[in-house]
Amino acid sequence: MRMVDLIAKKRDGHALSKEEIEFMIKAYTSDEIPDYQMSAMAMALYFQDMTTAERVNLTMAMVESGDQIDLSDIEGIKVDKHSTGGVGDTTTLILAPLVAALDVPVAKMSGRGLGHTGGTIDKLESIEGFKVELDNKTFNQLVNKNKIAVIGQSGNLTPADKKLYALRDVTATVNSVPLIASSIMSKKIAAGADAIVLDVKTGSGAFMKELEGAKELAKAMVAIGNGAGRETIGVISDMSQPLGYAVGNALEVVEAIETLNGNGPADLTELCLTLGSHMVYLAKKANSIEDARARLEEAMRSGKAIEVFKTFIRAQGGDETIVDQPERLPRAGSITDVQAPCAGYIAEIIADEIGIAASMLGAGRMTKESEIDLAVGIILKKKVGDYVEAGEPIATLHSNQSDVAAVTSKVLAAYSITDQKPTVPPLIYQVIT
Ligand code: URA
Ligand code: CA
Repeated sequence: MRMVDLIAKKRDGHALSKEEIEFMIKAYTSDEIPDYQMSAMAMALYFQDMTTAERVNLTMAMVESGDQIDLSDIEGIKVDKHSTGGVGDTTTLILAPLVAALDVPVAKMSGRGLGHTGGTIDKLESIEGFKVELDNKTFNQLVNKNKIAVIGQSGNLTPADKKLYALRDVTATVNSVPLIASSIMSKKIAAGADAIVLDVKTGSGAFMKELEGAKELAKAMVAIGNGAGRETIGVISDMSQPLGYAVGNALEVVEAIETLNGNGPADLTELCLTLGSHMVYLAKKANSIEDARARLEEAMRSGKAIEVFKTFIRAQGGDETIVDQPERLPRAGSITDVQAPCAGYIAEIIADEIGIAASMLGAGRMTKESEIDLAVGIILKKKVGDYVEAGEPIATLHSNQSDVAAVTSKVLAAYSITDQKPTVPPLIYQVIT
């Protein structure tokens, strides 16, 4: 087989066979196909699209390019969740113990990530003593015993995706639905999921800013998951403003504790209950989505969910007393209010801009090497639809730096205040099955 022929075939709009896709991904991973040929292929794929069969075959070829996590020693149906980015998205920290409280096995591998705040692993590391590196055996044992364990990324998962993603980044081919969908799904499948719940965000803070694009991506990922034999559903949720109130690592741990106790922000709680009920249903631990939801609500009310969170922290060496005494988490040196410049209704909070403001405080990494400050971040005091008086705090900055003028301006620029009461966008747009 020659790569040049495959490029020509795709350029002319024909579908590639399973064997052709496997050949291409294998040879690209082992450096036998050079970047310039793969670049041409990526651009051909961008313009000519891929059939569902091609997408499934590309995904599975990338899964097979590296290690795959074997979760077969863990009892039950392993359901994973993936959120496509966002700002102040604390859902994993909440969902993991919440669904584990209903006996759904949570064997989660999470990232540190680059971005506005750290990833789930960074957030967990704001808990003193918490270990994110476990050997496979301990990991499996903990999931069987407590139904939950979370580890940092290890092993050589989907090297083909890493290489292709880096190439797409510099050849203007990131923004292609079949390529994004197969990239994300290959990582979930390699991490051992039997079933997958996708949280596809739309709005200013999302990868897919427009609803139509988010729908198309969700449909593409659901089709790949189901085509690869992993039951998959997609929830399209709003990210036109940050989720919840907290944006920052330790601050989000506090918000997660409040939510598990049933006292969390309405939007974050609703999203977790929606995603969680689909996870419980796919794990066959409930007879219907409604039944799953009622039992998740009961786990919050009864204290079961927070007990599981404590057990989880203790099992991984962390200080579980932070759950009842969150003031023991890392705390910033100073707290500064950002005041509303005028009275009115909050019409918009550009999520990305709040994220950038949080990373200016040191909550996120700019490069893989940068250190993050787990204590710092932003607490929003007002969300879209709320009324403020002039001079009232719209947000507070938790900071360890003396000059927060630039961050204050950034937060002010993210907020729009109007005279008329705005319509608040829906939190959940659609569920794709
Ligand atoms: N995130 C991914 O993991 N892959 C993409 O291609 C785009 C976003
Ligand atoms: Ca939040």
